[in-house]
Amino acid sequence: MENKTVAILDKLEETSEEYWNISHQTGNFISMLIKSSGRRNVLELGTSNGYSTLWISDALQYTNGHLTTIEFWEKRQCLAREYIKNCGLSEYVTFKIGQAYDIIMDELQNEQYDMVFIDANKQEYLRFFEAVHPILKRGGIILADNITSHAEKVKPFVNAITEHKEYQSQILDLPDGLLMAYKL
Ligand SMILES: C[S@@+](CC[C@H](N)C(=O)[O-])C[C@H]1O[C@@H](n2cnc3c(N)ncnc32)[C@H](O)[C@@H]1O
Repeated sequence: MENKTVAILDKLEETSEEYWNISHQTGNFISMLIKSSGRRNVLELGTSNGYSTLWISDALQYTNGHLTTIEFWEKRQCLAREYIKNCGLSEYVTFKIGQAYDIIMDELQNEQYDMVFIDANKQEYLRFFEAVHPILKRGGIILADNITSHAEKVKPFVNAITEHKEYQSQILDLPDGLLMAYKL
């Protein structure tokens, strides 16, 4: 990772509560997962100010992949664009502005992802899952944050994915709880 990216990640960690960012440990884990399994086409729901986007796009620079990230809060997405640009990672990221579910249904139906990271509105996790299931390749991975911190809100999603015959899943003991599900 470039020094500039490390410095910006460090700076963003000072405001992580305000922007609801994933933890450093979670970012590091996702980065290692992308690099070690050669993930190349990733979708992120919930960009915020781009903290997780930086971790993911930096890893995709390593695998020569690409990230599409969705956020409906324009101000936050502007910040994310700026940080990604400052780190020289713009060519690895496509930003989309709007409701994640609508964008998936209207614009991404012809895509095939090998990883989806769900970190937007917790109450919508189930419908996000239903929307991304058809555009996730076999061998693809779904990651979802806030599984233990927002356990009640994400319960319908957790039940659906853990009972789903096409997925093998595990909740990982990272801050806030990260669910990882492998599409068989
Ligand atoms: C937990 S934060 C994302 C944090 C980011 N992944 C990170 O770790 O840096 C969730 C973000 O999703 C956005 N969001 C929530 N529901 C959304 C939806 N239905 N469509 C698009 N964006 C949404 C919020 O505005 C917020 O910025």
